Amino acid sequence: MQGFQLFEHAATVPTKAYNTKEWQRGYRSLTQEYDYWIDEIEGELPAELNGTLFRNGPGLFEVNGERFQHPFDGDGMISAIAFHDGRAHFRNRFVRTKGYLAEQKAGKILYRGVFGTQKSGGWLANAFDVRIKNIANTQVIYWGGKLLALWEAAEPHRLDPKTLETLGLEYFDGKLGKGAPFAAHPWIDPSSKFDGGKPCLVNFSIKAGLSFTIAIYELDVDGNIVRQHDYPVPGFAFIHDFAITPNYCIFFQNPVKFNPLPFLAGTRSAGECIQFQPDQPTKVLIIPRDPAIKAKPQTLETPSGFVFHHANAFEQEGEIVIDSVCYTSLPAVEPGADYRETEFDALSPGQLWRFRMNLETGQVDRTLLEPRCCEFPFIHPAKAGRPHRYIYMAAAHAETGNAPHQAIVKVDVETGARQLCSFAPTGYVSEPVFVPRGNASEDGLYTELQGEEDDGWLIATVFNTERDRSDVVIVDAKDLSIVTTLHLKHHIPYGLHGTFTPHYFES
Ligand code: FE2
Repeated sequence: MQGFQLFEHAATVPTKAYNTKEWQRGYRSLTQEYDYWIDEIEGELPAELNGTLFRNGPGLFEVNGERFQHPFDGDGMISAIAFHDGRAHFRNRFVRTKGYLAEQKAGKILYRGVFGTQKSGGWLANAFDVRIKNIANTQVIYWGGKLLALWEAAEPHRLDPKTLETLGLEYFDGKLGKGAPFAAHPWIDPSSKFDGGKPCLVNFSIKAGLSFTIAIYELDVDGNIVRQHDYPVPGFAFIHDFAITPNYCIFFQNPVKFNPLPFLAGTRSAGECIQFQPDQPTKVLIIPRDPAIKAKPQTLETPSGFVFHHANAFEQEGEIVIDSVCYTSLPAVEPGADYRETEFDALSPGQLWRFRMNLETGQVDRTLLEPRCCEFPFIHPAKAGRPHRYIYMAAAHAETGNAPHQAIVKVDVETGARQLCSFAPTGYVSEPVFVPRGNASEDGLYTELQGEEDDGWLIATVFNTERDRSDVVIVDAKDLSIVTTLHLKHHIPYGLHGTFTPHYFES
């Protein structure tokens, strides 16, 4: 299953490398909370690998037998895999959100989910109920001495980094309002020109109302919001991720329309009221990071497509270059449909595109970088907002078509070379988190390049259907060979995002 042995291994894997029934087993809830040293290890743990990988994702897919209609509506569960002195420790814990606690106590679904979940009792029970359950299920970051679980439509939850105990909602000394959204896709600018070259964290929020507003937040290394500015956005804004450069924030406003009436009437969830507009362009909003610049955001257009995630952006000779995973359409969330019965063949794959945007002429050119079905792009953290060479992603085993992610792909955007580490036919792969080899800064950040850009490891969780459990796999980012496989005692449901910090939290 090693990357450089792909072709040899590929010959033993059938053309259709996945089995839908087996894949579905990764969508079972993990109700138990564990705390143990991992003792089933294949290979050696790299001695230089010290720190904690935090991962977030839905851990619960039903309440007392009542099923959430979409995995994105599942309650957030944090996993912490800590590497220390050649050993590895696993812990998982649900984020004790107000909604999670209330539903566990009641033994039934009390909130409508954004992506399809309705309360039982039909439209009458759901009509005009627009309350949001903060499910805290998308990303987890350690910044300014605080561990924060993020979900884009509400405020972060603060957790104890040692025990993962939920400490409460985080308002950054009152600079974030009660119930205010705070996106799940922050970037760390490794050298912020607004902070004397120190790193800062840049995040955004989409505030919905009669119209939409993008708010940009920048936090110093101590975790304080030091810059904040708002921009009105015409039209409906379904924006999950963004990208930064030293001077700009870049947003792709996907071409979708939203009809709120069935949602208000209780007949459909919010996600089921969103419709992709294939005849409309994707708008690219370019917003200066300098709050002193009062100019309107520049809006460019590129052909219709849907983007959840961006790999990175950078400025180059009057242009902004951005690499993003783009879909030709967003499949509609159909009422009553079972996400576990996804027909992969019927959907378009996410593919990696490069967009070059000329700020003078407004011209946007795009080229396909990687046609293989892929998602969850990751780069070296020192390259955030700067020209990068390597992008790592979760990907399909097969070169063409749409399929579950069973491999890690590395794309060299300079030479066009790519490498693959496939876990097919029995492995299903999460986002690969890149961890640089070498020392982090005093702030615990990998903001300086030491050695080559691909000198480090990729750490991913892989649901292994043969064992019916998950593995934590450490892959050498240079040649995509598997260095270490840590066998967990249980599965981890398919998750969303994670981050690595060189801190080890003794408990
Ligand atoms: Fe995401």
